[in-house]
Amino acid sequence: MTDQAILVTGAAGFIGFHVARQLLAEGRPVVGLDSLNSYYDPALKQARLQRLAADSRFTFVQADLADRETVAALFARHRFASVVHLAAQAGVRHSIDHPQAYADSNLQAFLNVLEGCRHNSCRHLVYASSSSVYGANTKLPFAVADRTDHPVSFYAATKKANELMAQSYSHLYRLPVTGLRFFTIYGPWGRPDMALFLFADAIMARRPIRLFNHGKMRRDFTYIDDVTRVVSTLIDLVPADNPSAANAPSRVYNVGNHRPEELTHVVALLERELGRTAVKELLPMQPGDVVETFADVEDLMRDTGFAPSTPIDVGVHNFVTWYRDYFEV
Ligand SMILES: NC(=O)c1ccc[n+]([C@@H]2O[C@H](COP(=O)([O-])OP(=O)(O)OC[C@H]3O[C@@H](n4cnc5c(N)ncnc54)[C@H](O)[C@@H]3O)[C@@H](O)[C@H]2O)c1
Repeated sequence: MTDQAILVTGAAGFIGFHVARQLLAEGRPVVGLDSLNSYYDPALKQARLQRLAADSRFTFVQADLADRETVAALFARHRFASVVHLAAQAGVRHSIDHPQAYADSNLQAFLNVLEGCRHNSCRHLVYASSSSVYGANTKLPFAVADRTDHPVSFYAATKKANELMAQSYSHLYRLPVTGLRFFTIYGPWGRPDMALFLFADAIMARRPIRLFNHGKMRRDFTYIDDVTRVVSTLIDLVPADNPSAANAPSRVYNVGNHRPEELTHVVALLERELGRTAVKELLPMQPGDVVETFADVEDLMRDTGFAPSTPIDVGVHNFVTWYRDYFEV
């Protein structure tokens, strides 16, 4: 452990907020960066930041990572030993209509972070990838060694591109990098464009909830506290030269619960917690979507002791408790 601040990008976002909070709770200073863009309500991002700002070891920087000079200056000033890069334009469906936002925030921004790490002797870059890199794969569970060269959304293509960009910098400059393929992370302070949050909003407003593929979807829902614990552990687990990555200090893990849930079951849990029945609108499959996700997490368990321990009913309960409190409903 070091007293030097860890850079957490996307710190006002869902996962970044929780990771920053975990690191602060462990006594580690954090510089949190975020552009506070309006992809979803910036008031939620501000509310998360307010919680982080209560800790004197937290410093916030509002900046757009796609801005090359700003990022270069920030890295030169702080010379971060560890970087947890979680900022991105997220969302599979949004990428169908807004591909440019993904080029800026997921490709240009990622390159700027890599350059910052390269020029300032960063000890370890941990970055977010996504289960969406598995595209239309049908072999389950998804394993890191499976093919990931047929993305079904531009979002997925940018996340796969990040893995390749990180691999090239790791090879060329010996930059240690760890990519995390997140599987449907959920919990308190969650993301308003994701299913659980959208469903809760619709149920409370007595609007129909939209179930694509006629509700026949399975997702490996992964609870946020299980994720933040393993991210914190991974920061200090700097990869050694990896024979499966052409001997670069580079690796990729799945971060999932290893237990796919029927979407209709999750809706039933939400209905129970909210005390209301959902009106269900059954719709066909959406472009860019996949029917099932299921993570093989053996490598992560072996290397970090990762053992996801939050059952879906507990996780949904915790989410609804937060939701009621935050929106006063
Ligand atoms: N939540 C999930 O289930 C999930 C699943 C797979 C992958 N991921 C990935 O994990 C990471 C975190 O996701 P999240 O759910 O917390 O999303 P989020 O949208 O809540 O957080 C991302 C944050 O990044 C910020 N940001 C976006 N573009 C930026 C830029 N150019 N410069 C600076 N800040 C910028 C946003 O303002 C936002 O606060 C993302 O990389 C996402 O693609 C998330």
